[in-house]
Amino acid sequence: MTTVIKNGTVVTADLSYKADVKIDGGKIVEIGPNLSGDETLDATGCYVMPGGIDPHTHLEMPFMGTYSSDDFESGTRAALSGGTTMVVDFALPSPGQSLLEALTMWDNKTSRANCDFSFHMAITWWSEQVFNEMQTIVQDKGINSFKHFMAYKGALMVDDDEMFHSFQRCAELGALPMVHAENGDIVAQMQAKLLADGNNGPEAHAYSRPAAVEGEATNRAIIIADMAGSPLYVVHTSCEQAHEAIRRARQNGMRVYGEPLIQHLTLDESEYANPDWDHAARRVMSPPFRNKQHQDSLWAGLSAGSLQVVATDHCAFTTAQKRFGVGDFTKIPNGTGGLEDRMPMLWTHGVATGRITMNEFVAVTSTNIAKILNMYPKKGAILVGADADLVVWDPKRSKTISAASQQSAIDYNVFEGKQVTGLPRYTLTGGMVAIEESTIKTREGQGKFVKRDPFTAVNRALSTWKDITAPRKVQRTGIPASGV
Ligand code: URP
Ligand code: ZN
Ligand code: ZN
Ligand code: ZN
Repeated sequence: MTTVIKNGTVVTADLSYKADVKIDGGKIVEIGPNLSGDETLDATGCYVMPGGIDPHTHLEMPFMGTYSSDDFESGTRAALSGGTTMVVDFALPSPGQSLLEALTMWDNKTSRANCDFSFHMAITWWSEQVFNEMQTIVQDKGINSFKHFMAYKGALMVDDDEMFHSFQRCAELGALPMVHAENGDIVAQMQAKLLADGNNGPEAHAYSRPAAVEGEATNRAIIIADMAGSPLYVVHTSCEQAHEAIRRARQNGMRVYGEPLIQHLTLDESEYANPDWDHAARRVMSPPFRNKQHQDSLWAGLSAGSLQVVATDHCAFTTAQKRFGVGDFTKIPNGTGGLEDRMPMLWTHGVATGRITMNEFVAVTSTNIAKILNMYPKKGAILVGADADLVVWDPKRSKTISAASQQSAIDYNVFEGKQVTGLPRYTLTGGMVAIEESTIKTREGQGKFVKRDPFTAVNRALSTWKDITAPRKVQRTGIPASGV
């Protein structure tokens, strides 16, 4: 059966034009005027865009003594309802655990996924086994990105030595290292001091993780990547100091990418001053929300191109889970939701305000990350042969965000009460209509794992340059008799 999306305006990362889009067998088969098919979806007044890709989710993740509450079913249903058609989740070995074993655990979570997904692998410890398994992960398992936590001391954190080993291995394998950049040693001491001083509420979470601590770690990771000859992807870039380090590195020719979250772009630190403990604790995540100057820096980075991707870090905990930290903010599970709200919030606060263009919206929600993770143009494109993961975006549809009507499994929404204008009329995953306005038509198990090959153009360019500029022994002619 063929489907035609008719009368819409196709909007990609570089073009906007009137055309119909024809789909067959889950792929785009034709783009042009006056197409017909077995089924027609009316896109009058709408933009037909590549479905969103969220490269930063934690679905059913074991963390801080509990599991994040959205799994691959509710998480991908939430994603689709907001126009996101693919998620990339983090497989997380415990320190000492085999990467392959962790991958099997993550594979086992995904049988009910409603949209396509892929994985990044986390490096939470270092050994010869990890060194060897990284090759299998890249060459046999279709994963070309490795995440490193520079924070969460005593749990997931790795040190500079481990990162340098791992980044060099990434360079050899044609993979992309990623970092959660915060100085975990300083955070741990700040937490202890705040608690000792009786500062035990959720606001102390933000006090313990200032922007400078993120900026320092971002810069350190950039230098380590440069020494290792690898590119670098900085997740949840939340502040000017981190953005500045990324901007500077890029100006110096380094291949560094930065990923602000929709939460950091639109919510600020005043949330932690709320007198309601639950309100503040529900917004505890790392890095914490920042002030308006930091937000302006992130928005500027998106329009200037120094930041490339908007993600969510979707890691949803219920109020009951957040209350594990009553009396001790360090025990509040870190994480917030956002999968369902990323695209409407970014459209409302980005495109509708003139901060970014429609084409930039497509770039930062889909196309850029598809290229960075080496799955373009299968994903992130409207081209013949691309997967029919599409969103028919109605710029006039609006709603007020509310936990009462959300798909996510938790009992609140950090964007509660926000009015958004710009929502999917249809979301298609593999050519199937999963969302029709407010009607959910998702199919459990529809989502498939997306393999990603190593050695992007950037990896190749970097290794060529590193080869050419590598230290070389000087070949001398006049060697003194006593030496070499
Ligand atoms: O607070 C956060 N961000 N929770 C999820 C884990 C992480 O650091 O990405
Ligand atoms: Zn070592
Ligand atoms: Zn993180
Ligand atoms: Zn995360």
